Formats: sequence, structure tokens, C-alpha cells
Amino acid sequence: MHYEKLDDFPKDFLWGAASAAYQTEGAYDEDGKGPSIWDNYAHQAGNTFKNTTGDVAIDHYHHLEEDVALMGKLGLKAYRFSVSWSRVIPDGDGKVNSAGLAFYRRLIRLLHQNGVEPVLTIYHWDLPQALQDKFGGWESRRMVAAFHHYCEVLFKAFGDDIKYWVTVNEQNVFTSFGYRWAHHPPKVTDIKRMYAANHIVNLANADAINLFHQLVPNGLIGPSFGYGPTYPLTGDPADVLAAKNADEFNNAWWLDVYCRGHYPTFLLKQLQRMEIAPDITAADKLLLASAKPDFLGVNYYHGGTFKANRIDKPDEESSKDFSSTDPYLMQPQMEQAQSPEIPMFNAVENPYLPKTEWGWEVDPVGFRVALREIYEKYELPLFVTENGLGAADQVEDGQIHDSYRIDYLTDHLRTMKAAITDGVDLIGYCAWSFSDILSWLNGYRKRYGFVYIDRDDDGEHTLARIPKDSFYWYQHVIATNGQEIQAK
Ligand code: BG6
Repeated sequence: MHYEKLDDFPKDFLWGAASAAYQTEGAYDEDGKGPSIWDNYAHQAGNTFKNTTGDVAIDHYHHLEEDVALMGKLGLKAYRFSVSWSRVIPDGDGKVNSAGLAFYRRLIRLLHQNGVEPVLTIYHWDLPQALQDKFGGWESRRMVAAFHHYCEVLFKAFGDDIKYWVTVNEQNVFTSFGYRWAHHPPKVTDIKRMYAANHIVNLANADAINLFHQLVPNGLIGPSFGYGPTYPLTGDPADVLAAKNADEFNNAWWLDVYCRGHYPTFLLKQLQRMEIAPDITAADKLLLASAKPDFLGVNYYHGGTFKANRIDKPDEESSKDFSSTDPYLMQPQMEQAQSPEIPMFNAVENPYLPKTEWGWEVDPVGFRVALREIYEKYELPLFVTENGLGAADQVEDGQIHDSYRIDYLTDHLRTMKAAITDGVDLIGYCAWSFSDILSWLNGYRKRYGFVYIDRDDDGEHTLARIPKDSFYWYQHVIATNGQEIQAK
């Protein structure tokens, strides 16, 4: 679909950038902070790339003024950050650490002073270790009360200062990586346990949204979901059906619960037949149905491509082990009950799409497809809470010429503008990320930021902050409210 002229971005569009506590803050055991599951996981050799940890990360904790001043210089209208639960409540569900709250209060004040709207993510994967030890983490129903307590502390502390809140970040990623693929703590490989833990997160999310609406009536809240459109490999109806199944499996399983208040019929039935569905009580159903987000956060990197399942249409490719760090290509040879994908679809590579250095497909048109699909189906305002390019940037004479990142972002902003012209109601866009940060599994080499950080996998070096070419490009995009996206 082609337009002669695209609509302008809304006047109050939130041009932003995002980050997460574990990936930026450092100070992992300072000022009363308790350990998180990520602190412990990264401290065990062999769990992360070159055993990188967030102990120091980019030391945002001690560079707060400098970092927020740079956000002001960039002209950001919004900054999405997450709160470290164990910094605020070291044992997860007990006493509040006032020094922890003070850090975020200072951050929020500085953001306001610099004209940047804070967007607070409550949970970006760094669960207090104490809750893992006491309850077994997200597998316990006691987590709903613990999350409620944590949320209440945040809502009461910052409800007057922050309008936009994100409950949980990429629930689809942290539950599958933590409980199915064992790439994240607690390193479990059991899909039934994954669906059970995921159900508890759904309950905690719904309960938090209801609490928010009581305590922060003027605020807006929603989860951020890692969405990927699902393409059929060919026009063969069997491939089209496979792509539809994959959409249910990768997207609707979460989004239907968030936005419609119940699990999708098709997939729930399949999981029940395989005896891996979660236990859902009558009270659970009521809770899920009672909570409605005000907007939906969308994290977009890429989608997936699918062909008919390997039982109906076996072929040579079907026997390949697609294990990789790309969740869309993860299909190890497992028993059917452990691999519900097998009777439903087969994930394949898309022959039309180039890839990043880390093998992620680059698909700006898919961004428009994603925004359209989600908006049409769920009819909620959307907020792009992540999108960006990870690359191994190099410093040349003290500068970082990341034209490839500018190209990537230019293409995505254009298709986002097209989606707005299509009619999608979009609140804002947070690029991932403001500065280079720690990649959970790829160390410090995979850089996403507008600001280069002088540190790498081998050490902290000077931790100097250096704006990249993309910083100045984005500054101009924001200053023109997206009228001039093209690189200068
Ligand atoms: C998202 C996460 O899944 O992708 C971020 O919300 C993460 O925390 C980002 O950093 C990029 O992933 P990676 O693996 O390239 O660092």
C-alpha cells in the first residue's frame, strides 16, 4: 500500500529511548540492594557470553546526572527504564530499602528537569533472588501477592510523578527462556512448567493493573510484548494455516489474555490435549477478565516465517535442529508433548530478509504489519517500547559512524509513519536503547545505543559516554517531530 504523502506524527508524540535496570545500573550490591536472579545467574561461570555480568554494567547508577543530561541534549521526550525490584525491596516482599527508592526518585526528578517523560517498567526480568529461594519464583502463586506489594510501593511512591507504566517486559521471552530453553534463570527445560509459571505472571499482571487503576487513576499502564508477525512461506494453504497456528502460539497466547481477558480457544485446547496447559481456576478466570490495560507496549525486532507442520508434510528440512538464540527458529527435536510446535507449524528462514550480524532478520515492513495487526485485533493505543539494531560498533578517531543503525531506524520510522497513516493509534516510540548496555546473553559487544560506552567484555575501561552519529540524527528527527527522518 503506497501513499503520496504520509500523515504527520501526532504533536505530543513521545520520541523516546529505552533501557532496563540490570543492563545499565551496575552497583549490584550497593546501598542495600539485594541480589536478583540475574546477579546470581551471571556469577555462575558458563551462563553468559564470556561470563559477562551486570555488576558494573555501564555504571548508570553512578553516572545518573551525566546520562540524563545527555538525554536532555538528545531532546528525548520519553525515557523508558525499569526498576530493580531487589534494589527497592531487597528480600522481594518485605521491607522497603529507602536508598533504593531514592535512586529512582532522583532519576525521575532529573528526567522531568530535562523535559523527558519517565516511562517506568516494573519488571524487566531481574526477580529478587530471595523470591526464587523462598517461593520458587514465578512457579508459585505466592508471587501474585509479592508483586502486588512491590507494585503498591511503586504506585504510592511515584504515581503522582509518572503517567506511563509498563507492568512486565516481554513475558513471552522471559518465561520461555527461563523455563523452556534454559537460557535465562532459573534455567529450567520443562514446557509444562513454563506454561504454569507464565499463568502466574498473567495473574500478577492482571492484579497489578487493577491495583494501578485504584491507586493511580490518572496514569496509563500496560505490558510490553515482544511481537513478531508470522508469515507463511508460500501461498500453499497448509503454510497459511501453519502461520496462523504460529501466530496463536507466539502472539495470541499472551495478547489475548492481556487484552481480552482469556486464553485463546484453539491453543488452550491443544495444550490441554498435550497435558501441558496451566491449571486455571474459576477465580483466575475472573481476575484475568477483570483487568484491562490502557495501552499495549510493543517491542519489535522481527517476525517469523512458517510452513506446514512436519507431521502432515515431512521433508528433509524438518529433521534439522534449528536451535539458536532466535526464539522463532528454536525447534529442537523433542517429544511432541515437549514441543507443541511439531503438529502445528515449522519455523523456517525467510528468503527475502537480510540479517544483522547476530542473525536477526531485518524487516521494517513487518513493523507496519505488526502495528496494524495488533491495533486492529485489540483496539488499544500502542506504544512502541523497543526497536533497534544491535551491532559491533567501532570507534574511529573518537567517533562512531553508525550509518547502518541510522539506516535501520530510518526504515523503521518510515514504516511506523505509514502505520500511523493507515490509522494506528500510536503514543510513542522508544528506540532500544539510549546508550550501549549489557546484552543479557551477548555481553557488551552487541551495542544498541545512540551513546557509545567505553567498556567491553574484558573490562570497564573509562566508561566514557560518546554520542554516535545516530545520536545527532535522532536529535534532528525529534526536533522536527519526525518530519525529517532521512539521514542528513
Ligand atoms: C528485548 C529485551 O528482548 O531485546 C531487552 O527486552 C534486550 O532487554 C533486547 O536487550 C535486545 O536483545 P539482545 O539479546 O540483542 O540484547
